[in-house]
Amino acid sequence: MNKDQGLGGKIVLVTGGSRGIGRAIALAFAAQGSHVVVTGRTQATLDAVAEEIHRLGGKALPLACDVTDKRDVEALKGKVTNLPGAVQILINNAGVAPAAGFLEMPDSLWEEVLRVNLTGTYNCCKVFLPEMIAAKWGRIINIASIVAKVAYSHTSAYTTSKHAVLGLTRALAIEMARAGVTVNAICPGYVETEMTLNNARLLAEKRGKKLEEALGLFKGSSPQNRLIAPEEVAELAVMLAAKSAAGITGQAINIDGGAVMV
Ligand SMILES: NC(=O)c1ccc[n+]([C@@H]2O[C@H](COP(=O)([O-])OP(=O)(O)OC[C@H]3O[C@@H](n4cnc5c(N)ncnc54)[C@H](OP(=O)(O)O)[C@@H]3O)[C@@H](O)[C@H]2O)c1
Repeated sequence: MNKDQGLGGKIVLVTGGSRGIGRAIALAFAAQGSHVVVTGRTQATLDAVAEEIHRLGGKALPLACDVTDKRDVEALKGKVTNLPGAVQILINNAGVAPAAGFLEMPDSLWEEVLRVNLTGTYNCCKVFLPEMIAAKWGRIINIASIVAKVAYSHTSAYTTSKHAVLGLTRALAIEMARAGVTVNAICPGYVETEMTLNNARLLAEKRGKKLEEALGLFKGSSPQNRLIAPEEVAELAVMLAAKSAAGITGQAINIDGGAVMV
């Protein structure tokens, strides 16, 4: 890859940037010289990520925002106006994945999952896209999942939300194709984060297994028999944002050790 990928000085917004995949993405863009706006609902954890980036010599602005609240996302846009430029790279990463059987699932869980994973992504695209169009350059990268393409048991709300995120990715990619804005999805398999640990704990409790055994089941669902590291997802996000990725749009790229091949 050409050394200068045009990411230095770009303003990157990472939702759900306080831990896991989002934190790794924030660090990876900061290492490219981008200004990273790290957002999530908990200011203290955002501050910690921003401090880490500053310690490494990078630029980060930690701003709390709940992506499910459109007014909060609009307010966030107002708060980034003192940065040198508009948000041109949007990483829609904030997400929740509570497991539940369909019939036992409370309606509130269904609503929450769709609100965070789908409406949150919609809100951020709606608010930050106009300035990308004005600049004739932008990148939207939606962190979907392999369940955007296939389904697993006890994930009906999550699977529905991620299928919908992929639909939005594709539809928006077509609409933006001549505006200089690419829209892509990354589809990870099981990644080593708190989200995966929580679901492994739930599975272990339900089946009377040890946590290691439940994690082993997750690992075993991948031909590589391992979890993906958050940093691997982050590097893929950087690749998709690069100048040289201008022709890649409307794609959903799996990073799952070969578990899903569609
Ligand atoms: N881990 C996996 O195996 C895996 C696999 C495929 C796809 N993914 C996707 O990758 C993304 C990140 O997953 P992860 O494993 O890194 O999850 P995680 O460790 O649970 O982190 C989730 C992040 O989202 C933030 N968040 C949650 N609700 C939010 C809201 N309403 N508004 C703003 N921020 C919110 C959280 O911060 P606060 O709670 O402080 O708001 C946190 O920063 C998700 O979209 C997930 O679906 C994960």
